[in-house]
Amino acid sequence: MQVVAATVFVFALFQALTHGEEFGYDGNIGPEYWGERYRECAGKHQSPININVLRVKQVTLPDLVLVGFDDSIDDVHVTNNGHTVLIEVQNEPHPRVRGGPLDGDYIFSQMHFHWGDNDTFGSEDKINHRSFPMELHMVFFKEEYQSAAEAVKHSDGLTVLAFFYELDRHQHPAYDDITSALVNVTEPHTSVVMSHPFSFLNILPYDLKRYFTYKGSLTTPPCSEVVIWLDFEQPIRLTHGQIEAFREIRSAHGKITHNFRPIQPIGDRVVFYNIDNNYYIYNEIDEREETTTGKPSKRKKGRSSANRLVPTIVYTMTFTILLLFSL
Ligand SMILES: *[C@@H]1O[C@H](CO)[C@@H](O)[C@H](O)[C@H]1NC(C)=O
Ligand SMILES: *[C@@H]1O[C@H](CO)[C@@H](O)[C@H](O)[C@H]1NC(C)=O
Ligand SMILES: [Zn+2]
Repeated sequence: MQVVAATVFVFALFQALTHGEEFGYDGNIGPEYWGERYRECAGKHQSPININVLRVKQVTLPDLVLVGFDDSIDDVHVTNNGHTVLIEVQNEPHPRVRGGPLDGDYIFSQMHFHWGDNDTFGSEDKINHRSFPMELHMVFFKEEYQSAAEAVKHSDGLTVLAFFYELDRHQHPAYDDITSALVNVTEPHTSVVMSHPFSFLNILPYDLKRYFTYKGSLTTPPCSEVVIWLDFEQPIRLTHGQIEAFREIRSAHGKITHNFRPIQPIGDRVVFYNIDNNYYIYNEIDEREETTTGKPSKRKKGRSSANRLVPTIVYTMTFTILLLFSL
């Protein structure tokens, strides 16, 4: 009797001690074991995935509407939860998103990061099997479900705006406030209030029109298949040092050197690639203006082929002249 009681007690103690730390990225709590304890992690529509750009279906979805993304937010908390760094806002109303592939409004819940041991990998989703050194997940829950906890019980409960990072020689100034807060949350289960107001738009890339979208899951246990993913094509550019700051964050087992889940089978899912047709039309007009006013075009893609014809003609003429001379 006493033995049983002692065993139950030890088990309860173990549960209490490991609560919130019940998964990791290595050893017998690593991703390949998640499915044993969390059945949904062994599901058929899991994230992350590799996005094969040759297999995506191009679409033009309604405009994505980002509400409150340029607000200057005061009470922003940065927290080390033992798995990642979370950024949460206290003030109401929270930023929100609608449009694109979304049916209804989704309210901001939290954002967090995934990174790797070095700059050669660390993102969760991959594009044509390319990894990026870090990835940002901005998590939103569907307004009609009222909380993230309720939303994870519904197949359209969450949307995650995902952004990749790539290396740059220049410091991204908007990330300095985040990296200076990181210094104060290296220990697990610690939190600080960011020293300056924070704006979502400041930490995002310029092009928010081109993105991949597909249905998947949370990339951490319980791996619920309730997420509409939007993976933006244009990466955010940080220096090596700014990314390195995240690798100082610690869990109960030491530095979190990597916290990305390996890619999962795509199965029967289709990835859509949102291209804004209006944007192309606009660009063509812009291109025509360029020839008359010399106004630089915003983007190189979608450029008319006339520009490329000129060097081809010069090359062909030179070649012909050389050929004639050699005869
Ligand atoms: C990055 O880390 C991986 C795994 O630890 C290692 O195999 C690889 O050589 C490293 N690459 C660089 C450039 O340090
Ligand atoms: C971090 O802590 C230092 C002192 O230890 C303080 O000067 C700094 O303002 C803190 N940063 C944040 C973002 O709280
Ligand atoms: Zn994530």
